[in-house]
Amino acid sequence: MTDRRDLQTFHPFARLNGLLDGVPAGRSAIDVPGLAPGAPILLSVGEPQNQPPAFVAEEVARAAAGWSRYPPPRGTDAYADACLAWLTRRYGLPTGLIDPQRMFLPLAGTREGLFFAALATTPATPGPGEKPAILLPNPFYHVYAGAAAAAGAEAIHVPATRETGFLPDYGALPPEILARTTLCYYCSPANPQGAVADLAQLQDLIVLARRYGFTIAFDECYAEIYTETPPPGALEAAVALGGALGGGALDGALDNMLVFHSLSKRSSAPGLRCGFVVGDPRQVRAIEGLLRVGSAGVPLPVIAAGTRLWQEESHATANRARYQANFAVAERVLGNRFGFRKPAGGFFLWLDVGDGESATLALWREAGIKVLPGAYMCAGGTGGTGGDNPGTPYVRIALVYDAALTEAALARLGEIL
Ligand SMILES: Cc1ncc(COP(=O)(O)O)c(C=O)c1O
Repeated sequence: MTDRRDLQTFHPFARLNGLLDGVPAGRSAIDVPGLAPGAPILLSVGEPQNQPPAFVAEEVARAAAGWSRYPPPRGTDAYADACLAWLTRRYGLPTGLIDPQRMFLPLAGTREGLFFAALATTPATPGPGEKPAILLPNPFYHVYAGAAAAAGAEAIHVPATRETGFLPDYGALPPEILARTTLCYYCSPANPQGAVADLAQLQDLIVLARRYGFTIAFDECYAEIYTETPPPGALEAAVALGGALGGGALDGALDNMLVFHSLSKRSSAPGLRCGFVVGDPRQVRAIEGLLRVGSAGVPLPVIAAGTRLWQEESHATANRARYQANFAVAERVLGNRFGFRKPAGGFFLWLDVGDGESATLALWREAGIKVLPGAYMCAGGTGGTGGDNPGTPYVRIALVYDAALTEAALARLGEIL
């Protein structure tokens, strides 16, 4: 188990910096508008490179009086209304499904909520003989593992590989592990593989969590970035299942689940730090308690800008079109090399290059292209599922620039690898 005082050890970018430390960047030889000649190309971080709509700055300025106030932990009614209206539109939910007073919280992005979910669901002092477990996909977003370690739980890394359709099959775990599970993380669209769960998979997981009494943290921060069809959401699955006790009543419909959304990818605004969680009132309350002691909150001017962003669709549609164009480029340039397949969602390529670390070094040294070795997003050996690190053959590439740069960078990558 990772010591909570040493969470940097498995941070993927700390490991990437270690790998490239002292290795000079090659000249990219990529000539695209807006890029200084020979400048390195950073495809390692999933940070959108286009700007959020101009009205963000206007809304922040209009709400500037809010800078003199501490952020209210429950945000504003207008923010809650905008988020719930968006969810209702996006997923075709029945009105009244989510009580904003008990089942909703604003968050400074999904990361802090995903982190606090582990603390909220896992007992600080487990009883004698108890060994809480937190389930996470392998590969995984590093915050899941950090949160499990901080909560003092055993992290169970469940393969999300080609063989499992790039999503974890938690239902295949032994009942002994499920019985001591407090939380599981489920990311759809998945970072890094871009796999999307269908409604039946989401429903099965909710049923499993209710049977064993654990909570699911549905990480849906890539929900708005997809190549063809809008990914189904956990809330739709919960509605289709009816209430926690069955029978179609909506009371208890969100039991055992927390659903996380963010403006970071939808609106290309990761710097705004603005998102929300909806779900099981017991867990939402526990997260609120933790946020009130451990979070800086979401400032009112940010809440004002966030309100408008959740209300507005056209910028999100344009944003999605950018990523779709990048994937069309990737399909054209890569064909079926490196196991390429157009992912259903997200904005990453997860390419099988044989040896992710040496490919990363070669791309950096020869062309100043920075990518992330897949192994750095996975646990292997004793930390994983007992086998080798499933990310070893892969690199993750974030397609966060425009189509011209994407085309040039992928063509260069093809030459080098
Ligand atoms: C899978 C996944 N979840 C959550 C986050 C956190 O995003 P934010 O806190 O900006 O909403 C990220 C960010 O890259 C991510 O990749």
